[in-house]
Amino acid sequence: ETKDSFVSAIPKVELHIHIEGTLTPALKWRFAQRNNMTLTHPRTGVAFLTLEEYEESHDPMKARKGERMNNSEETLSFFEAYYGGFDVLRTEQDYYELAMHYYEHAAAMSVRYCEISFDPQGHTRTGTTWETMMGGFSKAQEKAEKDLKVKSAWIMCLLRDLSPQSAMEHYLVALNYRHMIIGVGLDSNEDGRPPMLFEEVFATARKDGFRLTAHCDVGKTYPLEHIRQVATKIGHKGADRIDHGLNITESPELMALIRMKGIGMTICPWSYMRHQPMEEVYERIRILFDAGIKIAIASDDPAFMEDTWILENLLVAKKFCKFTDSDILILAKDAVDVCWAPEQVKNEIL
Ligand code: HPA
Ligand code: ZN
Repeated sequence: ETKDSFVSAIPKVELHIHIEGTLTPALKWRFAQRNNMTLTHPRTGVAFLTLEEYEESHDPMKARKGERMNNSEETLSFFEAYYGGFDVLRTEQDYYELAMHYYEHAAAMSVRYCEISFDPQGHTRTGTTWETMMGGFSKAQEKAEKDLKVKSAWIMCLLRDLSPQSAMEHYLVALNYRHMIIGVGLDSNEDGRPPMLFEEVFATARKDGFRLTAHCDVGKTYPLEHIRQVATKIGHKGADRIDHGLNITESPELMALIRMKGIGMTICPWSYMRHQPMEEVYERIRILFDAGIKIAIASDDPAFMEDTWILENLLVAKKFCKFTDSDILILAKDAVDVCWAPEQVKNEIL
């Protein structure tokens, strides 16, 4: 329960949320039971007998009793837990319920519009068809707009640890769902995977009218060159947004460029607290804000970050960056500004 009624009530736009990152242990347990699957420990193969037992193992942070892990070790266990979870999603009803679970949280937090990422390659490799996945998502999307007053669009995220060829194959199928999909993103493990590896698909998507974004620098410090590629090169002239990328504070020149081009940055405080000292995280967010870069605070993977949604991310940013209510209003407006909704939808939000 929050007493901050201003932050609770302000109309919100959420631009960085992975639908698979909202797959809580309780949802996974429900889907697994219904699909006659046994949940087992990813390393030992031992079956979990109760939801409580399963929940305890779920959060890599909690499983280690809050000890901060060395970065590469932790990133691996996050990806293991995250991608390992896709397996329980089998039916259109599973996808529908997963998306409705997010939309209900969004509505409760006054989210009026959201752009939701999904990782199609993670689902086709567990044998799910596009019809199953998109069928569930589209029914939820329609219901959320009608009954919860939450409008939305989807961002198809490419898995950068897979091949550019797999990315292109999935992109071509996604064209069948372009009435739902507004943009193309890039996620998963950034190690040795610069964004320009995927230029063929980014350039094609740009030409076809999709908006572009890519994850940069989450979990470990990757080369600033990756951010430079996102800001200036992918899709010919650079993306519309950057997901994360807090380490641009190390480059005044990149900061100036991003500000000048009006590239929005999605910032998810709870994601960084897994890897980086708090003071550094909040100092950097404050630097971006004070430089006039448009930032959109969002939640990323709530189910993997101690159940923290957009509201908790805004509250923690407010507290540690010492944002005033008028700063919060600027953040809310900046999120509207850098979202990809039609002008008419944007104008009705705030
Ligand atoms: N990092 C990179 N890719 C991701 C993440 C993340 O934290 N969550 C979902 N895809
Ligand atoms: Zn993300």
